[in-house]
Amino acid sequence: MKSKTEPSLDAPWALGEKKYNLILKALDNRRVEKIVEFGSGTSTVRLAQDYPRAEIVSFEHDRKFQQETTNLLKRFKVSNVCIHYRPLKVACFFPRLFLTYSLQENMLPRNLDFSLIDGPVERQTLRGREAVLYLIFPFLRVGALIALDDYHRKSEQAVVRNWLATYKNGLGVIQEYEDLVILEKTAHQLPTRFPGVSVLKDNWSITGILAIRTFHREKRKLNGTLNKWIRK
Ligand SMILES: C[S@@+](CC[C@H](N)C(=O)[O-])C[C@H]1O[C@@H](n2cnc3c(N)ncnc32)[C@H](O)[C@@H]1O
Repeated sequence: MKSKTEPSLDAPWALGEKKYNLILKALDNRRVEKIVEFGSGTSTVRLAQDYPRAEIVSFEHDRKFQQETTNLLKRFKVSNVCIHYRPLKVACFFPRLFLTYSLQENMLPRNLDFSLIDGPVERQTLRGREAVLYLIFPFLRVGALIALDDYHRKSEQAVVRNWLATYKNGLGVIQEYEDLVILEKTAHQLPTRFPGVSVLKDNWSITGILAIRTFHREKRKLNGTLNKWIRK
C-alpha cells in the first residue's frame, strides 16, 4: 500500500511507480478526458484518481481480476471507471490472426486521449496487445498517446515495429524507455493490409505456434476423455 488514499503500483504484476510517473509526465499539458486501458489492476485506480473528471474504460479478460479491480475501486471510492470483462477471442485483420479482447465498438468512447496497453498476459494471447491498437485506432483522436508496457520483451518490440509498419503515416514513437514505450497518433489512417513480409512472417509464425499448442492441448483432452470411457 502506497498510502491510505493511493494503492501502490510497485507490486507484482502492476505497472510500477516509475513507469506510471513517466506516463503522467508525457500526458502533462495534454487533454486527458477519455482513457481506455487493457489489463486492469492498480493502474485503473490510479488513473481514475489522477484524472477524476475523465471517462475511463478498462478491459479485463479474467473475471477474477475484473472483480479484484472492482473491489479496489470501491475501497478507494473511485467511480469514474467502467471495467468490461471481455474474454479473449480470435480476431482476423486480414491476412493476420490475433487472439485478443473481444471488444464491441459501443464499449469504446469516441475521441480517446490516452490508452494504456498492459494486457492481455503474454502467454495467454496471440499478439493480443498488438491487435488492440487496430481495434481502437479509429477511436483515438489525433494527438492521443498510447503507452505499451513490457517493452524490454522482444514480443512488445515486434508489436511496435508491426504498428509502425501498419500506420506508416499515422503513428510515431515519442518516448522509448527500457521497459515502456509511448507513441502518439499523428493522423487518421486506415491500416495498411499488407505492411510487408517481415510483419506477416512475424504474425504467421506466431499463429503457427498457437495452432500447434492448441492442437496438442485438445488432443490431450480428447485422449483423457477416451481413456475414461475405455476404463468404464
Ligand atoms: C500486467 S497485468 C495488468 C496490471 C495493471 N495494468 C496494473 O498496472 O495494475 C495484465 C493482466 O494480468 C492479470 N493479472 C493481474 N494481476 C495478476 C496476478 N497477481 N497474478 C496473475 N495474473 C494477474 C490480469 O488479467 C491483468 O489484466
